[in-house]
Amino acid sequence: MNLSDFLNSKNYNSELKIIISNIAAGSIQICERMNEDGANIFGSVGEKNIQNEDVQKLDLIANEIFIDIFNNQSSVKSILSEENENIIELNNSAKYIIAMDPLDGSSNIDVNIPVGSIFSVLKNNKNGFLQKGCAQELACYVIYGTTTMLVFAIDNAVFGFSLNLKNKEYMLTHPNIQTPINGSIFSINEGNYNSIDSEILSFINYCKELSPHGKRTHTGRFVGSLVADFHRNMLRGGIFIYPKTGDKPNGQLRLIYECNPIAFIAKHTNAKSTNLNLDILDIIPSKLHERTAFVVGSKNMVDKLLSFYN
Ligand code: F6P
Repeated sequence: MNLSDFLNSKNYNSELKIIISNIAAGSIQICERMNEDGANIFGSVGEKNIQNEDVQKLDLIANEIFIDIFNNQSSVKSILSEENENIIELNNSAKYIIAMDPLDGSSNIDVNIPVGSIFSVLKNNKNGFLQKGCAQELACYVIYGTTTMLVFAIDNAVFGFSLNLKNKEYMLTHPNIQTPINGSIFSINEGNYNSIDSEILSFINYCKELSPHGKRTHTGRFVGSLVADFHRNMLRGGIFIYPKTGDKPNGQLRLIYECNPIAFIAKHTNAKSTNLNLDILDIIPSKLHERTAFVVGSKNMVDKLLSFYN
């Protein structure tokens, strides 16, 4: 079933349906740019964003594509983007606001490793973007990998669609995604080993224990694109950990447009997320580009990690 037949068959709010279609259309444009114009998407633009990260050409291309689409369709009131310090106002009469990381995993663009786009959709209210993640009505990501996939959580369920580039059509390939309650994959940048909590080190050492037959009990995988690491662990069972580190005392990942949408999708696949203190979806953000420690994955693995803190 293609995406538009799927959406027509559902009772979702009509504005949310338009937003899903807009994200799908934007991601197809990005995918086409990647496949048709490879030589021109590599490299940085020689500027830093407000997070002091190098801005890549594809970061800007993706940002413009999504802002243009939401603007032209009048579907969105305002946008908070990783690429822009301030909120972008679009259509005052629209109900929904979108926080987005238009291109997640920027450091992987030039080395041909999967990257993604992430979206958090909230109903506007007096708190604007500073709402708890549990208030999201739709969370969505696109992964540009071996195939391009659109994954979204809405009405307590998560669906995955794979792109048929020839027909420019997303097809339902993953209905009602569930994360295994146990998993064997742990995903952490071990380069931070010497600057993270001893409880996390204990958990990593637990993951590295051998079975009585001398076989490994877990496997380590870290792509360095949140969307790709999460997508694999969601389907296979695993845990993703990006804790506070010595040089990033608040963590690396942004709460509103990276952690919240991923945590919302995780929740509806029966997985769990935490900042090692609170459920991610219960945190009240205090600023737009706030960072947080982030752990997400199979319930039993997240609980095992938390048990080292108790
Ligand atoms: O903040 C974006 C991001 O690129 C994530 O996609 C990824 O998980 C993380 O940063 C990687 O950070 P590091 O390079 O410190 O491992």
